[in-house]
Amino acid sequence: MKIAVLGTGNVGGTLGKRWAQAGHQVLFGSRDPASEKVQKLIAETGHGARAVSPAEAAQASDVILLSTPWTHCEACIKGLGNIAGKVVIDCINPLNETFSGLTHGFSVSAAELVASWAPEARVVKAFNTVSARVMADPNFDGQPATLFFCGDDDDAKQMVRQLASDLGFEPVDAGPLANARYLEPLAMLYIHLAVRGGWGSNTAFKIMKR
Ligand SMILES: NC(=O)c1ccc[n+]([C@@H]2O[C@H](COP(=O)([O-])OP(=O)(O)OC[C@H]3O[C@@H](n4cnc5c(N)ncnc54)[C@H](OP(=O)(O)O)[C@@H]3O)[C@@H](O)[C@H]2O)c1
Repeated sequence: MKIAVLGTGNVGGTLGKRWAQAGHQVLFGSRDPASEKVQKLIAETGHGARAVSPAEAAQASDVILLSTPWTHCEACIKGLGNIAGKVVIDCINPLNETFSGLTHGFSVSAAELVASWAPEARVVKAFNTVSARVMADPNFDGQPATLFFCGDDDDAKQMVRQLASDLGFEPVDAGPLANARYLEPLAMLYIHLAVRGGWGSNTAFKIMKR
């Protein structure tokens, strides 16, 4: 798939690298594609990855990963131009300024706001309940970490399921996009456990069934 990775930080850098290694065509979308940081990421990523502006990356791709801070998300999406029909993966958690809670949740999730800012795109919430460290390696002694995703477009969800499988996750369909109201607080629980609970970022959720 042709994937635009918007944001070249922990998450964008990690997922971009891994998708490129898995055979996908990755275009990083950065505020400063020529910066030393981004050029280093391109060199590490290899596999023909390049960096351009966020709008250029989005226009040239079928799938768009939003991996910017929540505070910049709306401006980023609105600067992309027409992205009708494209699959938008939203991994963003709407954290407050102190990272101690969420700014949205009960009546609307960040994912639903993202969908309202890009009404003709096909938004899927995914990758928000796993750390960048786990994105780099989701294998826990042979057990794949669970990757919850939700959205309203079945074909888009199928593509995200494939992208998660390609990285070694166990993808789990968590229902319609409004269920991001559950996935975003789950990420808050993860942050609490990892940071305050002492579990660290080499920790992941695993769903079990019998
Ligand atoms: N870190 C995690 O473990 C984790 C896990 C799950 C979900 N998330 C979510 O993923 C998103 C990205 O997290 P991250 O840890 O990758 O963040 P990060 O390391 O700070 O990277 C964010 C990237 O967004 C871009 N950006 C665009 N506008 C920005 C602005 N105004 N200020 C700062 N950066 C801006 C930057 O790339 P350019 O300089 O190239 O533009 C920056 O490198 C967040 O919304 C977070 O909630 C994070």
